[in-house]
Amino acid sequence: MNTPAQFAAAKRRGEKIVFVTCYDAPTARLVAGSEVDAVLVGDSVAMAVHGFRDTVAADVPMMALHTAAVRRGLGPEGFVVADLPFLSHRRGRGALMRAVEALVRAGANAVKLEGVDGSEADIRHVVESGVPVMGHIGLTPQHVHALGGFNYQGKSPEAAAALRDQAQRLQDCGVFSLVIECVPRSVAAGITRSLAVPTIGIGAGPDCDGQVLVITDLLGLDPGFKPRFVRRYLDAATQVSSALDAYARDVKGGRFPGPQETFGGEESDAAPPARRAAAP
Ligand code: KIV
Repeated sequence: MNTPAQFAAAKRRGEKIVFVTCYDAPTARLVAGSEVDAVLVGDSVAMAVHGFRDTVAADVPMMALHTAAVRRGLGPEGFVVADLPFLSHRRGRGALMRAVEALVRAGANAVKLEGVDGSEADIRHVVESGVPVMGHIGLTPQHVHALGGFNYQGKSPEAAAALRDQAQRLQDCGVFSLVIECVPRSVAAGITRSLAVPTIGIGAGPDCDGQVLVITDLLGLDPGFKPRFVRRYLDAATQVSSALDAYARDVKGGRFPGPQETFGGEESDAAPPARRAAAP
């Protein structure tokens, strides 16, 4: 899937859409060879890769750098959505469009923006400029200070009604898709049924049109972080730790490097393979 129209068609056919976050070229190469449909360069990069405590630390240069790396790894075909980071869409039209331009020039096909209040005219402007926009409602981590933490949203009937209203307004603004994060299943299901554009859930139950997970969560790279809505498909933390220990033991025990990893030793001195050629 690599156009907004294809995502809408998938929803009409009842086919689930699979997004994963991705932040670097080698991982993007693996995603390109997988059955995953599309990539989100989320501002979660600030937490998952840079070790910050929230996504407020992400800025446009950080997002553009990771978007460009993902595009190089993914190749020209894959569909990439890049997050507009904290406040980048709240500093006036000029700043918004410079941020959108930086992300698209870095390789994004679309941008994602959290919330809707006060942003409707800007979302329409980006869409009318030819850049697809993905909305994001529910737990919107850029609003962490207003929300009082990374909390489950939409629990009361009033809060659920507000989410339904936001979803409808985003669709009216022309978003091609909508992330719904950490809300009750029934709320996400109702929004999904009411919209023509696909919903992509995270912590929003199985009735959304698709799902997204943060790649470091699904690979189990952080053993201390396992929210209820995450399923780990790999215990990478254990496997990487074992590999590091094996390497350290081999070096300390004099077993690495061996003859086959040494030039001028017993093995052939054929030229080493070039490093993987970088895409432009
Ligand atoms: O930044 C991110 O990774 C996200 C997803 C959790 C939807 O916005």
